[in-house]
Amino acid sequence: MGAVANISKAIRKPLLEVEGKCSLSGNIKIGGAKNSALVLMAASLLTDEEIQINNVPLLTDIKVMTDILLRMGVETKRKENKLIIDPKNLRQVILPVKLVHSLRASFFCIGPLLAKLGKAKLALPGGCKIGVRPVDQHIKGLRALGASVQIEKNMISAFIPEGKTRLDGATILLDCPSVGATETILMAASLARGTTTIKNAAKEPEVQDLVKMLNLMGAKISGAGTSKITINGVQKLNGCSHQAIPDRIEAGTFLIAAAITKSTLSIGPVIPEHLNAVINKLRECGCDIQEEKENYLKIIPSTLKAVDVITQPFPGFPTDLQAPFMALMSIAKGKSKITETIFENRMQHVLELKKMGASIKINDSTAIINGVSSLNSTALRGGDLRSTAAIILASLSAKGKSTIQGLNHLDRGYEAFEEKLNLAGANIIRYLKNSDKKNVSGCEPEKKKKVVIKEDAA
Ligand code: EPZ
Repeated sequence: MGAVANISKAIRKPLLEVEGKCSLSGNIKIGGAKNSALVLMAASLLTDEEIQINNVPLLTDIKVMTDILLRMGVETKRKENKLIIDPKNLRQVILPVKLVHSLRASFFCIGPLLAKLGKAKLALPGGCKIGVRPVDQHIKGLRALGASVQIEKNMISAFIPEGKTRLDGATILLDCPSVGATETILMAASLARGTTTIKNAAKEPEVQDLVKMLNLMGAKISGAGTSKITINGVQKLNGCSHQAIPDRIEAGTFLIAAAITKSTLSIGPVIPEHLNAVINKLRECGCDIQEEKENYLKIIPSTLKAVDVITQPFPGFPTDLQAPFMALMSIAKGKSKITETIFENRMQHVLELKKMGASIKINDSTAIINGVSSLNSTALRGGDLRSTAAIILASLSAKGKSTIQGLNHLDRGYEAFEEKLNLAGANIIRYLKNSDKKNVSGCEPEKKKKVVIKEDAA
């Protein structure tokens, strides 16, 4: 009871209280992909007609993006997980530092604004906790398409030079297969005069999903999912209705939740080929994974064996699942090596996992993990979106009750994260602020479980 009593005194920020040694069962439903929905919303600026995007998750990042669109005169309406976007009143605005820094994905607007209105001015998105996050490849692409791009005082101004009304197709070789840069160039080139070829393009499913929607709008793009994409520019793009792909990172996170709690779970809907690298690694470490009807995956874990992972661009192992997978390797039998090759500072979860008793050493961008038999619960704090998810997974398997702060990170990328886990048998309570509590599976704590908080407890 001490741990619970401490919460009422200590709590300053929302936190989760996670009961460990939990076992999950049944199904977990997967929502639409955050990293698809965000860029699809930006692509809606390329037309004057209504765009309907289905399967849009309820996330704080999506909310911020709708606020940014509204600021540009673009109305949006949400009906459950359908987002209806009306871009006919799009007007030129300057996207200020605060707004762009609150959501890096707002930078996706530069391509469409430039192609549609002939100019765009927005703050340079700064770095974030996982890395510097430069946008040099985005700028390289826009300049190759004939835009004039200037950077001063952390603001980017891009415009189509005098005497021209459209961008001109070009061949662009990316220095790295950047997801964002590929998407910026795709959107800008879709309305350019002539043909654009992107070489060393990103192959991620979210890039493929963007191309699918752009082609539904009347674009002429081929090669999505390969490293060479060709765009034949058109004069105008139309409205459309499009369903965003399921979130492969959410799905992978819950597959790992099943593995780390040694629970049999069905997870879906998913597109299995979006998860091949993750499924292979989970099978390698001892989990049986079967495809079920209606695009569900059934995972049946057994004794966890340590395996090595190197994060890679798609179709390699995704960097966004590096942290959750490290939580799993913390209790796997043997020694594993996890190397992060995409971002330069994506190991925030290591310190938190070590607080729980994990045995991890970092050598440059490689973590060396010696699996332990069990982790211990404690007070934890997530530093970024995927690290926060990782330490919640670790807490599900630990002995005792952990508290986790950093829910602002979690809610950016996972819809109803603890609700979905509670519906599968977990016992997680979200404390909103001092002594308030919301039992996330919907029923009142008093009904669900007696939580007695003695204010004067030591
Ligand atoms: C997208 O970020 C995702 N975000 C990230 O998901 C994901 O981790 C990343 O792709 C890699 O898959 C969205 O889609 C909103 P990149 P993005 O451009 O586009 C370097 C999450 O947790 N680079 O492929 O920013 C860059 O520094 C987030 O959901 C340049 O050098 O990723 C990084 O090292 C995190 N110059 C690497 O490429 C550039 O101009 C990959 O970045 C652009 C990128």
